[in-house]
Amino acid sequence: MGRLTDKVAIVTGAARGMGAAIARRFIEEGAVVTLTDVIPEVAETAAQLGERARAVVHDVADEAGWTALVDELMAQHGRIDVLVNNAGILMFRDLLSTTATDLRRILEVNVVGTFNGMRAVAPHMIRQGRGSIINNSSADGLQGANALTAYVGSKFAVRGMTKVAALELGPYGVRVNSVHPGGIDTPMANPQGVPAAQFDVAFKPYAAQRAGRPAEAAECFVFLASDESSYCMGSELAVDGGLTAGHYYYGLPGSPPGVTPPRHSPTPGKKS
Ligand SMILES: NC(=O)c1ccc[n+]([C@@H]2O[C@H](COP(=O)([O-])OP(=O)(O)OC[C@H]3O[C@@H](n4cnc5c(N)ncnc54)[C@H](O)[C@@H]3O)[C@@H](O)[C@H]2O)c1
Repeated sequence: MGRLTDKVAIVTGAARGMGAAIARRFIEEGAVVTLTDVIPEVAETAAQLGERARAVVHDVADEAGWTALVDELMAQHGRIDVLVNNAGILMFRDLLSTTATDLRRILEVNVVGTFNGMRAVAPHMIRQGRGSIINNSSADGLQGANALTAYVGSKFAVRGMTKVAALELGPYGVRVNSVHPGGIDTPMANPQGVPAAQFDVAFKPYAAQRAGRPAEAAECFVFLASDESSYCMGSELAVDGGLTAGHYYYGLPGSPPGVTPPRHSPTPGKKS
């Protein structure tokens, strides 16, 4: 408790999933949080979090909306301490079936939305001489994945823009870092809402041997928002249960017990 006392924060895409969990944890740690989302359900989410939460319906791709949001917060609080660029969309389509329109749609939210957010708050944070911007990239911003041409491209872009912003804003006391979640049980990853124990099964072949919960991912954002991370600039924090740590050679020591080797995972010395 108290790791973010009185910090003024914005969390985008906060109606549900990881964004809602981040907003909840920020408030528990003492922050005042504006939850934004393109869907009106954000009002309900904010209402459940008490009087230090406020909802704004806003599309992160809308630049004018960012100006209005930031102006209002500055008028009310006189500063903005934390921005979490969390809003994002996903599309499963391979290279040959992805159209340029598909790609633009993903980039508009995941990349332009993050870009707009950083540009909207950075001048105020520079003037304040402090601030923390946290961009929610993905495990898919660290490595490739089939059927995710547009999404992987967008998340690598978020990771790259984070580095540049960290370099440019760091000398003014503004820290910019990226978080790289993987396998977090949210409406995006689990749209059918299958029970957690059932959803976990798909993650058996990875180090954690289960999916992650939104509250577990939110802890990384609390750390990067707080002064505890004062020397983190341009860092990439993976919260993916080992998804990007490497791969297993099944049948050799150190591979997870009780897992049937996936067909794509060769064991040296064995014919597959
Ligand atoms: N769940 C995972 O395993 C996982 C893994 C890696 C990265 N991520 C990333 O984490 C972030 C949060 O994902 P989640 O899993 O909680 O997904 P989610 O779909 O549950 O939540 C995303 C939220 O963003 C909102 N949103 C979508 N487009 C928007 C826009 N244009 N403007 C404002 N809000 C918008 C949605 O309405 C939704 O409330 C995303 O950026 C996602 O790409 C998720």
